[in-house]
Order: sequence, then C-alpha cells, then structure tokens
Amino acid sequence: MSLINNGSIAKRLSEIGTKEYVLRNRPDALSVSKRVMITGGAGNVGSNLGMALRKRDFNVAAFDNLRKGHRAAAAIAGARLFVGDLLDHDALTGALSEFKPDVVIHCAALIEVGESGKLPQEYINNNVVGTLNLFHAMQQLGMNRLLFSNTAAVYDGTLGRPLKETDPWDARNVYGATKGADALICKQGKLFPSLKSVHLHYFNVCGAPETGVLGEDHGIATESHIVPIILQIALYNLLKKYGLDLPFYDPGALATIYGKAGRDRLKVFGNNYNTPDGTCIRDYIGMGIKVFFHLQAIQRLLSGNMESHYEAFNLGTKKGHSVLDILNRCENVVRQQVGLPAIETHGLPLDSDKRLIPAEIAERRQGDADFLVADPEKANSILDPRNSRPVQNIDKEIEFALWSMLYRPLGYEHRPAVTMDHQVLRFYET
Ligand code: UFG
Repeated sequence: MSLINNGSIAKRLSEIGTKEYVLRNRPDALSVSKRVMITGGAGNVGSNLGMALRKRDFNVAAFDNLRKGHRAAAAIAGARLFVGDLLDHDALTGALSEFKPDVVIHCAALIEVGESGKLPQEYINNNVVGTLNLFHAMQQLGMNRLLFSNTAAVYDGTLGRPLKETDPWDARNVYGATKGADALICKQGKLFPSLKSVHLHYFNVCGAPETGVLGEDHGIATESHIVPIILQIALYNLLKKYGLDLPFYDPGALATIYGKAGRDRLKVFGNNYNTPDGTCIRDYIGMGIKVFFHLQAIQRLLSGNMESHYEAFNLGTKKGHSVLDILNRCENVVRQQVGLPAIETHGLPLDSDKRLIPAEIAERRQGDADFLVADPEKANSILDPRNSRPVQNIDKEIEFALWSMLYRPLGYEHRPAVTMDHQVLRFYET
C-alpha cells in the first residue's frame, strides 16, 4: 500500500507538463529586441537565464556542445541553439557573427570540484583555453559586453566569515583556479582591451524555476552536487519504501536505476572540517535570486554605466548551511511535499530507519573548502539599489528542485512523468 498520495503528485506533474507545452509553443521574440548569447545555454544555469530573458523579450541564443547540456533545456528556455565547442574557433565565430549578440553570458564550463582534481588538463582546456577563444572571437568581431559566470571556488574558504570581493583568491582546487585565471585576464585588461565584463561569483546554486519545467540534470550516477543527490536518494526511498508511483514510469525499474547509481544513502564527505558540526558550510543561493542579479548585470552592461572595464560581485545570501543542515532540511521538505509526517531530525542517527534520506560519514572529497559564504553587500547595493530582489527561501528552492526532478526522473533525454488526455500528451508522444 502506498503511504503517499500518488494522485496529487500526478496532478502537480501534469501542471508542470502543461506549462512546458505552453512555453515550447510561445511566439518568437521580436527581431528588434536586444540579443543575448549564452555559452552553456543548454545547461542548468544557462537555460534558466535563457528562459528569464525570453520572458522579458530578449532574443536568446545558446552556444553549447551538449556534452553536459540538453537540447530540450534550450528549447524550453526558448533559446536558438548553436551546437558547438568553445575549442572550435570556426563554430564559435560562426555562431557569434550569425547571431550578433549585444551581450554574451559565459556559463559554459566544467564545474565539478572533485572531478577537476582528477582531470586537470580537461579543465584547463575547456575552462581556460576555450574561454580565451571566446574572448578572442568576441574581440575580433567587435563584441565587447561580457557577463562571466565566476565561482566562490576562487576563495580558499579558510576565513570563516562571509567573503567580500576584495578578499584574496587562493583556489583549493583546479576548477576554482581555472575560473580565477580567466577572470584575472579580464581584470588586468591587457590581452582583450576592448572587453567590458561583469563577473558574478556564484556560491552554491540550488533550486529550479517555480514552474518546475527546467531542472538540474547531470545524470543520475554522475551527479555531484549535494542538493540533487539528496533528492535522488529521497526518490529512491520513496519508490522502494513508500509506494511512489510516477506516471509513465515503472517504479521497480526506476528504483533499480537509482539503486545501481548508489542513491540509497548520502555519503557526507568529511565531518572533521573547522565548522560547528564538522561538515562543510556553503551559501546556497536559489535560482530566482540568481537570475535576478544576472538581469540587473545585463542592464548594467547595456547601459554603459560600469565604473571600470571589470566589475565583480559575490552572489549569495550571507547565510551558511552545513551539509547536515541541508540533509535535514531536505528530509522535511520532501516529506511535506509528498504528504508524509515531519520528523525530528535533531539527534536522530544518520542511518536511522526513520529517515527517508539516510546518510553516513565518508572520507573528505579532494579540494573541498571548509566555509564558503558570500557577503552580498556590493551586489545588493550596486546591482539592486531599489532593493527589489526576490527573497531567498531555501526550503522553497528545495521544493522546486524536487518537483523538477519528479517531473523528469531520468532527465531530459527521457519523457516527463505526465499523464494527460489532451493535446499536451500528444505533444510528448510525437
Ligand atoms: N557533498 C557531500 N556528499 C555528496 C556531495 C557533496 O557531502 O555526495 C558535500 C561536499 O563535500 C561539499 C558540499 O556538499 O562540502 C557541497 O558540494 P557541492 O558539490 O554541491 O558544491 P561545491 O561547493 O563543491 O561546488 C559548487 C559547484 C561549483 C561552484 C561552487 C561555489 O560545483 O560550480 O559550488 O562554491 F562554483
């Protein structure tokens, strides 16, 4: 017998499906609109930015090699997709000269802290060589407005307080070092003197759009980020123990896939960091607030009101959450969303049967920093002088991420979990 309300879950999933259908059938952007090209526009952050820009009547293109990105994500965002690699100069200049962007947002990157230690050369090629190709192509074509996705990983994470833009960089991992190298070239301004760039240092992005139509999809076994991994574990246990039955998907087959990916429990990477509970502290920033700051930064680039050719802003909430805090929050957000009673997690052993999302302490992951939390004061005062940014609510972000994952339990390359008897269903079947 099912312990959860599969009927109401199916209803919410079909609402997401209808929203996706409406988006995919939206009219084209006006040809006179400003044009934004997003490298990595078929990825998680890139597709969310694309969708937000299209909503505001921008013309949007995605330049993406589809190694990590998804054609469907670009389509839902409403971006024109140029499939190409940053290392392919012809593909890059071809796409730029055809689309003629007013602004380029550079999101395309390999972004995994742990992986970057194992594959340093790939990170250098993709994140540094590829990025310099982009800067070079833009300069050749007379395009000079750049919004650069930077990272909190440029900081070493030992200060134990919220980080300002003026704090020193000393990346603990190859990933952070590659992004820092690109940014220093922009900051110095010698190699690409025409470039004007705004750099947004992302702290830990989590969540999804409220509609649930876009989601984080780095594969099931290959996902490395904490929130999607925790939600995958929740999904596995909902299928195995609580009778979750998603439309169009066989629960046993789904559980087998998640089980083979090791999603039965969370491995907490280290509990001997210099933090109150011993697990790493991060600043989890929701997709909505992050998108807001990008829109502000684009206006700043377009207005020509920048104070110098290089400006950097830390995007975060000034509030840190430990790995254990995130785990416990997810436990009760998921429970609430699927109609299970809340549990008291304080003092509850990580491997307790009472947990929907059990965990165990594992070895440290190479390259992890103790404490990365943003001081967002500069971004707030310069990019949001009217104080109009959305309010961050981490539980809501977890909720949106959950629904986007339930909607696409096997990711973008598989059909969504919706049953409907009207035109929307026919759309998914073709
Ligand atoms: N973690 C676990 N178990 C897991 C996965 C992660 O304990 O299975 C821990 C990590 O060790 C770390 C925390 O959860 O302490 C967050 O890890 P993530 O991999 O989710 O995120 P990172 O902080 O390593 O890095 C992320 C992005 C980067 C971004 C950076 C900014 O991957 O792209 O945040 O700080 F730049």
